[in-house]
Amino acid sequence: MKLINTIKELNLLLESLDKSKTIGLVPTMGALHLGHISLIEQAIKENDFTIVSIFVNPTQFNNKEDLAKYPNTLNEDILLLKSVSNHIIVFSPSANEIYSGNISSQSYDFNGLDKVMEGKFRKGHFNGVGTIVEKLLTLTKPTRAYFGEKDFQQLQIIRKLVAIKDLPVSIIGCPIIREYNGLAMSSRNERLSETLREEAAFIYKTLKSAKEKFGTKNAEYIMDWVKNEFSAQPNLELEYFKIVDEAQLQPISEFDKNSKYRAFIAVYAGEVRLIDNLAL
Ligand code: PAJ
Repeated sequence: MKLINTIKELNLLLESLDKSKTIGLVPTMGALHLGHISLIEQAIKENDFTIVSIFVNPTQFNNKEDLAKYPNTLNEDILLLKSVSNHIIVFSPSANEIYSGNISSQSYDFNGLDKVMEGKFRKGHFNGVGTIVEKLLTLTKPTRAYFGEKDFQQLQIIRKLVAIKDLPVSIIGCPIIREYNGLAMSSRNERLSETLREEAAFIYKTLKSAKEKFGTKNAEYIMDWVKNEFSAQPNLELEYFKIVDEAQLQPISEFDKNSKYRAFIAVYAGEVRLIDNLAL
C-alpha cells in the first residue's frame, strides 16, 4: 500500500513504473463500501497497477451543507483497502493540491446529458464532476478508469468527457452492488436510521415492478404508477422517476426496439437523498 498526497509524489511514482504496464484508476470520494470495493477488485484483476483516488471534490457539491456532512473516514478507508490488497496506490490530495487555490469548475458541453435528472436537480454538479475527473485522468494517466452504474448518468457523462477531450483511456462501467434488501450501496446510507434503511428498500422494489410493467405498459403509465406508489409512503419522498434511453438520457418519444432503456429514480428518505437505476 502506498499513500500519496501530492502531485509531485504521484509524478515520481508514475515515472518509476515500467511504461509497458497497465494502470487502472478508481476515482472515489472515500467513505468506502463494498460498491467501491467491487470496482477496485475489477481494476486489480484487469491491470498491473491500481490507483484509488480519495478526494471529496468541493466543486461537484451544489449544496454546502451536503459537502460539510460528507463523511471523512480516511483511516478506515485505508484499512479496508489494505484488506483487499497490499499493492494499491492511494492518491489522497488536498483541495489546494488539486485546485491550487482556485476552487472552481470548468464548463463543458455534454450535449444535453447534464441537463436532465441529476443535472436538473443539482445545478453545476456535472461540470464539477467533469473538472475533477479530467484532472484525475490527466494526472494519473490510466489505461482504464472504473465507474459504477450506480451513477449511470455520471458514467455516460464521463464517456462523453473522454470523447470531447480525446483522452487515451478506456472507461469501464461496473454493476450496482446492493445491500441484502436491495438498497443500492451508498456512503449516504450510513446517515439513515435502521428503520429508514429498511423502508428505503422500497426504491429498488419499485424499480423492479416498473421493469416488469415496461413490457406491457407505456412510460407515462409507469411514471404515474410510481408516483402513486410513493405517495403512500410517509417517510419516502419521490423527487423524480424517469424512463429514458441509455445513450442520450432522453424520454421515449417513440419506442425503438434497437435502443436500450433504463429507469432512474431519486428519493428523499427523511433528509437523505438517494438515487438508483435499473436497466429495463
Ligand atoms: P463516489 O460516490 O465515492 O463513488 C465512486 C465510484 O463508486 C463511482 O463510480 C460510483 O458510481 C461507484 N459506486 C458507488 N456506489 C456504488 C454501488 N453501490 N455499486 C457500484 N458502484 C458504486 O462518484 C463519485 O464518488 C464522484 O463523483 C467521483 C467520480 C469520484 C468524482 O469526484
